[in-house]
Amino acid sequence: MSPKSHLRLGVNIDHVATIRNARGGEHPDPVRAAKLAAAAGADGITAHLREDRRHIRDGDIARLKDETGLPLNLEMAATPEMLEIALRHSPHACCIVPERREEVTTEGGLDAAGLHNHLAPVVARLSDKGIRVSLFINAETRQLEAARSLGAHIVELHTGAYCDAVIARESAKRDAELARLAEAARNGAALGLEVHAGHGLTFDTVAPVAAMPELAELNIGHFLIGEAIFTGLDASIKRMRAVMDEARHGADAGEAMGRA
Ligand code: PXP
Repeated sequence: MSPKSHLRLGVNIDHVATIRNARGGEHPDPVRAAKLAAAAGADGITAHLREDRRHIRDGDIARLKDETGLPLNLEMAATPEMLEIALRHSPHACCIVPERREEVTTEGGLDAAGLHNHLAPVVARLSDKGIRVSLFINAETRQLEAARSLGAHIVELHTGAYCDAVIARESAKRDAELARLAEAARNGAALGLEVHAGHGLTFDTVAPVAAMPELAELNIGHFLIGEAIFTGLDASIKRMRAVMDEARHGADAGEAMGRA
């Protein structure tokens, strides 16, 4: 992949729904946020339909697919219920994530290698329906190889450990995690996988990840929605876009996007 290729930004709108669900009504509407994200320059919308429906609800999925005009990346656990929902709605892509009821967020990558036999029919059925399949994995060679042998189109590398190291100011761990991500991005691309990354990314952590030339897409949610409280969603997405573009293409591109 060319170092100058466009790095897509997928905006995860789950936490607009978290706020909505705190009161149980219809406001704020995650579909309205997705439309705003599209207008601000997002390349895709990501939403995680969890087993416990703590944020995105079933009714959101059809509206997100039909009303936003952007490709929908549906994050889901590899369960019969979620498979049936995905096949019914046919999103552009499904990102299979590990899911535990008690977790606050997706804590680690999917064990694609250990769960090969469980995942194989899920990947096959989604692929047969023409849905691109992504596996959310830790940056490990055996997980990349398992994704390849499962026939996944995409891997999304979990950036959480890198972001945690930045927050903890552990520079050696930060550098080691970045090196792991960069190596996995290279190896994934060499295996013929499209490589995405995400989890925990902020204005302060996104640049070294965005600069990795093999990455095709970043998926970012919680920080953008939180920042929108202070600056508005349009400004928070445009600034993220500018930081990503500057990291990949240099200061001129970032400034041009920031002015847009
Ligand atoms: N990618 C995947 C697969 C995720 O599960 C999540 C969190 O839902 C994200 C990206 C976005 O992470 P964050 O909300 O921390 O930006």
